[in-house]
Amino acid sequence: MTAPGVHKSDIDPVTGYETTGHDWNGIRELNTPFPKIVIWALVLTFLYSVVAWVLLPAWPLGRDFTRGLLGLDQGEVALAGYDRLEEARSDWMAAFANEDIATLQADTALMTRVRPAAARLFADNCAACHGAGGLGGPGFPNLADSAWLWGGTPETIVETLRVGINSAHPDSRFAQMPAFGRDGLLERQDIMAVAEYVVALGRGQADPNSAGAAVFATNCVACHGEEGRGIVDNGAPSLTSNHWIYGGDLQTIVTTLWNGRQGEMPTWEDRLSTGEINMLALYVAGLSATDEGKQD
Ligand code: HEC
Ligand code: HEC
Repeated sequence: MTAPGVHKSDIDPVTGYETTGHDWNGIRELNTPFPKIVIWALVLTFLYSVVAWVLLPAWPLGRDFTRGLLGLDQGEVALAGYDRLEEARSDWMAAFANEDIATLQADTALMTRVRPAAARLFADNCAACHGAGGLGGPGFPNLADSAWLWGGTPETIVETLRVGINSAHPDSRFAQMPAFGRDGLLERQDIMAVAEYVVALGRGQADPNSAGAAVFATNCVACHGEEGRGIVDNGAPSLTSNHWIYGGDLQTIVTTLWNGRQGEMPTWEDRLSTGEINMLALYVAGLSATDEGKQD
């Protein structure tokens, strides 16, 4: 008798092939020949590799490598492509670094040409916070509307980008919405009254004789202005435009009043070139040029 699981090899009745003689619970393995195509593929890839060693960069030699007869270098190809790109945009990049903002803004042909590059720069650096197209989101102001904390002219935007807001830059713009509730500056019922007044302000339905109006006049106008239209030099937003950074519903306004707010916008001075900052400022100023004051 043969060892368990091993039979004498015999002929498989269905295919006519010899079997290996191995038996797994009645299943036998055919002794089929190794496919020729695999052998050919191995031979061809081996021959290709010999040719490639000779023609292309292949072997590492410590700090260097064999260059190959063709002298191809993908690194150099990539650098040449980058140089061509820089050359193609050098005329306008130089203009953005050197011309003053008003001259650039007046050059509509130039502005049209750089729009795609500016949009890409915005998408790469700003959209993470300010949203696609600068439409903003809770805590991050909409840059495509006509409501501004610090001002929407290209010159003021350049400065906002350069120093940031509440940032680590020594010249940073600085502004803070006080925490009226947490810091005990106002009683709870005054906070509720002024919050309702602000909700009404946003809807253009504020009652000047309400209790909230009195609280507003005493505590808020220094920063937000007599009529709550905001004071741009203070970085205090308008509360009348229905463009909210944090939200214009009663609950969000009570939270704003209770805990205060202090948004942080990073400085871009060391991260973007002067030309790029100028380009972005003109782009951002252009976003709001089409605003009709309708979106929230
Ligand atoms: C890490 C998040 C973040 C990034 C990234 C960011 N910002 Fe801001 N930005 C803010 C916040 C938050 C504010 C509002 C600060 C406040 O509430 O006081 C702001 C404010 C601004 C303002 C002032 C708006 C006004 O009403 O005056 C401008 C302009 C601006 N950002 C442009 C940009 C541009 C352009 C970029 C890209 C280079 C950018 N921001 C990248 C968070 C960011
Ligand atoms: C010291 C100046 C200052 C005073 C006083 C002040 N605010 Fe503000 N307020 C700000 C600033 C600055 C912001 C913007 C905060 C930010 O985004 O970083 C702000 C933001 C707000 C917001 C959020 C707006 C939005 O778009 O979401 C509301 C609401 C508000 N203030 C209401 C009030 C009311 C009501 C009072 C009076 C009880 C008041 N503020 C007093 C400076 C002030």
